[in-house]
Parts: sequence; structure tokens; C-alpha cells
Amino acid sequence: MKKFLLFFALSIFFFACGGDSAKDSSSSNAPKPKSMVADEPADDGKGIGEITHVDLNDPLDAAMVEKGKGIYEMKCAACHKLTDQRVVGPGWKGVTKIRKPEWIMNMITNADVMLEKDPAAQELLKECLVRMPNQNISIEDARAVLEFMFQNDAG
Ligand code: HEC
Repeated sequence: MKKFLLFFALSIFFFACGGDSAKDSSSSNAPKPKSMVADEPADDGKGIGEITHVDLNDPLDAAMVEKGKGIYEMKCAACHKLTDQRVVGPGWKGVTKIRKPEWIMNMITNADVMLEKDPAAQELLKECLVRMPNQNISIEDARAVLEFMFQNDAG
């Protein structure tokens, strides 16, 4: 009986301890510099969402670029420039070089969850202080915007 109580007490202790340290590590994530966040083992850089693999076109698909440009002008240009200048959100110049295509498409189609859970998206939110809205962009449309981003970075 004594043994059982001891075991019981210990398991509560460990449980509580585990809970606390989990909390600690997530709150101490906040002030970490970018470089450390990128090292987090669970983060494969592809972001969180439906998109786990993107096949890229080489050369770029001109029709997709054109479609993506239209979507950009209608739904994104208010907050994103094509240079590296930040307006509401970061400028898109170079985005295809610093992010994986899967990450970009997850950010477009699943912004809410990305801002909640993805370390790189959370870093951006800290810089921009505005939450990118989820605009119900279909995966096909997001893929066209991605093609347009590659064009923007190529030229
Ligand atoms: C209301 C302003 C707003 C609109 C409209 C908007 N975004 Fe954003 N976007 C942001 C902000 C702000 C961020 C930075 C993350 C944050 O703070 O939410 C961001 C981040 C991003 C990023 C990550 C950029 C990087 O440097 O890693 C991508 C990609 C992106 N947006 C794509 C889009 C696309 C595609 C559209 C149009 C379909 C769009 N955004 C429309 C505000 C906006």
C-alpha cells in the first residue's frame, strides 16, 4: 500500500512537472531569435496545412503566372508589394528563396493555423503586428500565385 501511494505521488509529481516544463518551453519560445526558432526539430520548413508536396515547373508556366498575377492584384496587393518593401505584410521579393513552396502555399490557404503554430509565421506576425486574413483561396489559385512569385523572383 505504501509503495502504491509512493508511486501515485510520484506519478502526480512527474505529470505536473511535465506539464509545467511544456508550458515553460512554449513561453520561452517567444523571445528566441529567428536562428534558434529555425532549429526547432519538429519544424521541416513546410508549414502546417494540406500542402505537403509541390511540384515546381521549369520553365515557369506562363498561363499560371498570368492567373497568379490577377489574383495578386485583386486580393494581395493591398498588403504586399513585389519589392522587398514591407507595407502591411512583407514584400514578396525573395520570398521563394527564403521559404519552401509548401510553406508559402500553406500560408496562403491556411493563414489562421500557420499564425497560431508555425514558428516562421509567428516571427512575421511579431514584425508586422497584423494577422494576415484567411481569404478562402483555393489550392489551385494559391499554386498560381506561387508561380507568379517565382516569376517575380526570376526577373
Ligand atoms: C490585410 C493584409 C493582407 C492581405 C490582403 C494579404 N496578406 Fe499576406 N501577409 C500579411 C501579413 C501582415 C503577413 C505577415 C504575417 C502576419 O503578420 O500575419 C503576411 C504574410 C504573407 C506571406 C509570407 C511572406 C514571407 O515573407 O514569408 C505570404 C506568402 C503571403 N502573406 C501571401 C499572401 C497572398 C498570396 C495574399 C493574397 C491572396 C495575401 N498574402 C494577402 C497581410 C496580408
